[in-house]
Amino acid sequence: MDIGIEKIGFYTPKNYIDIVELAKARNQEPDKFTIGIGQSKQAVPAVYEDAVTMAAEAAEQILTDDRTNIGLVIVGTESSVDESKASALFLMDLLNLPEYARAFEIKEACYGATAGVQMAYNFIATNPDKKALVIASDIARYGINTPGEVTQGAGSVAMLISSQPKILKLENKSVYMSKNVGDFWRPTFSKTAFARGKFSNQIYIEFFQTLWAKYQQKYQATAEDFKAMLFHIPYTKMGAKAMKTLEGNVSDETYARLKDQYQDSIKFGREVGNLYTGSLYLGLLSYLINSDVQAGEELLLFSYGSGAVGELYSGVVAENFAENVNSENVKQTLAQRHQISISEYEEIFSKSISDGEKIDPDEVTGKFYLSEIKENERLYSKK
Ligand code: CAA
Repeated sequence: MDIGIEKIGFYTPKNYIDIVELAKARNQEPDKFTIGIGQSKQAVPAVYEDAVTMAAEAAEQILTDDRTNIGLVIVGTESSVDESKASALFLMDLLNLPEYARAFEIKEACYGATAGVQMAYNFIATNPDKKALVIASDIARYGINTPGEVTQGAGSVAMLISSQPKILKLENKSVYMSKNVGDFWRPTFSKTAFARGKFSNQIYIEFFQTLWAKYQQKYQATAEDFKAMLFHIPYTKMGAKAMKTLEGNVSDETYARLKDQYQDSIKFGREVGNLYTGSLYLGLLSYLINSDVQAGEELLLFSYGSGAVGELYSGVVAENFAENVNSENVKQTLAQRHQISISEYEEIFSKSISDGEKIDPDEVTGKFYLSEIKENERLYSKK
């Protein structure tokens, strides 16, 4: 039986800032941000948006009558809205999901959604008539005037995993590792993350190198087997740094091809910023929409979550995948955004909704929003 991604949906907030403007406001060389980091724009979520609303927006795009067959709902997020209740449960109402399903949240930094995808794979293997909804949803927040600020972003990628993988067939070829590392963390009291930035880059690269060696050995694979290598993209230069470790270890031709293909996978990430756990999957979407990939070609995916867990796994591009990726919708989502100034972004950044406050639905640009906090409970609505 084939198992894999049947559908993918994507959402990012309507507002963004221009990275050159951010560089100027922070007295940095624009080239450092656009070339050294490799970003162009950064998504800025509205005060009524969070991991739940963005997850609902992305999933709504891919759910039709098939939602009745969903038996597993997983939200991978490190931007959790509650220490106890899973984000996935708010979606049960918002998305009209079937009650007889397992719904929960997975947290492990940017790795959460990959854990969800692998769990969904196993679920479909034993429940082939069911479907699993796996959603990556995050707001990457480091704080105003921090080194990490240029690598912020926000958005969500929703995937329907089933025995009809119309986009990417998962091959059940995977290697993974976990280690207690202090490269990045966000204590429960803090809305912003703490990072040992350069150390986190180093660990990311080390995990990639270790897993790539392990993958080659386990499956007698070579770089020639893959049309592209897709990476977790906290900022677009990061995957390029990991890819560079292949230089001299694979033929010049293969290295040039993989580098070239990588460019197609970072086009959307460059426009949005870090989606944390969704970044790898936005990279997949970007690659499927922007590259010359053909059905039957094999892709290698590198997932990395600080703290740290890494996983390297492969998939095969499905027949007619292009018809099943809603590229117009993704392009429109990115094109129909609104640029805000750095001072507007700073003002939004400092705002939050307090207990007893309600949101005026007329302010809301999307379909789903945090409408009220009542008795410290977050209440969501659909427009
Ligand atoms: N023109 C072109 N390039 C320039 C330049 C200029 N004028 N000025 C500087 N640069 C280059 C630098 O040479 C450097 O390139 P290399 O990395 O290739 O050496 C690059 O711009 C960045 O410069 P710095 O290293 O000086 O930047 P920084 O100290 O301000 O911090 C950062 C960069 C560490 C990525 C920081 O933004 C950060 O901490 N980000 C958050 C952590 C992060 O994203 N880590 C990634 C791995 S962990 C992970 O992946 C999980 C996750 O999602 C968080």
